[in-house]
Amino acid sequence: MDIQKQAVNSEAVGLIFPVHIWGVPKRVLSFLDKLKSISPRYIFALANNAGQVSNTLVQLKKEMAFRNLTLSSGWSIIMPSNYIPWGGPGSQDKQNERFQVAELKLTTITEKVQSRIEMPVEKGPLWQRIVFTCLYKLSLPYVHKMDAKFWTDEKCNHCGVCVNICPAQNIDIQYEKLTWHNHCEQCLACIQWCPKESLQYGKKTPVYPRYHHPEIKLRDLMN
Ligand SMILES: Cc1cc2nc3c(=O)[nH]c(=O)nc-3n(C[C@H](O)[C@H](O)[C@H](O)COP(=O)(O)O)c2cc1C
Repeated sequence: MDIQKQAVNSEAVGLIFPVHIWGVPKRVLSFLDKLKSISPRYIFALANNAGQVSNTLVQLKKEMAFRNLTLSSGWSIIMPSNYIPWGGPGSQDKQNERFQVAELKLTTITEKVQSRIEMPVEKGPLWQRIVFTCLYKLSLPYVHKMDAKFWTDEKCNHCGVCVNICPAQNIDIQYEKLTWHNHCEQCLACIQWCPKESLQYGKKTPVYPRYHHPEIKLRDLMN
C-alpha cells in the first residue's frame, strides 16, 4: 500500500480494509504511519467483515489518534466470509443477500462521506469487544508464522499465481515446491485464487468452496 500522488492532495481519504481476527490487520496499521505524513482533513473507514466487526473501528480510531489523525466516521460492511479454515462463504443466495444489503448501505455511506459527516464509528456488542479484542492481541504477534499450516496437494502445477498474488511476497517456488517465509499476513488470497484449488490450510480446506468477490478479477490482484 503506497501512498499515491492523488492521495497526497486529497482532503478526504477512505481506509477500506478487511477485519482480520477481530481487529485491524497489521498492514493497515503500518499504512497509518504513512498517512500521518499527509494529514487529510476528512478520513473515513469501511471495515469489510463476515459479521463480527467487533472492536475494529474503535481500535482504528485509537490507533489514529495516537498518530494525531482523526477518524471522522467508520462503517462495517458485511460480506461473505473468506476465512476458509472455518468454512466456505455460504450459499450463493446468502452471498447475494449480503451483496445487496452492502450495496444499499454503501449508497447511504457515499452521501454521508460527500457531506463530510462526523459520527461515532460502528462497533459490535460489548461481550465481543472484550473477548475478541483479547484474542486479537494474543494472536497478532503469531500471524506471520501461521503459514506453517499451508500445504499443496498433487494438483499443484507450480503455476506461480500464489507467488504473484501474495501481498506480503511470502511465497516462492524452490525445486518445484512451494515455500512460505514466515511473514504471512493471513489474507488467504493464495488459497482463494489457486486455479487448481490445490493450495490448502490445515485439515479442512479441501472440502470448502473458494470465494472471490464477483467483481474482482485475478488480474486486479496480481503484483
Ligand atoms: C485472516 C482472516 C481473519 C478474519 N477475521 C474476521 C473477523 O474477525 N471478523 C469477521 O467478521 N470477519 C473476519 N474475516 C472475514 C473477512 O473480513 C471478510 O470475509 C472479508 O472482508 C470479505 O471481503 P470481500 O468480500 O471484500 O473480499 C477474516 C478473514 C480472514 C482472511
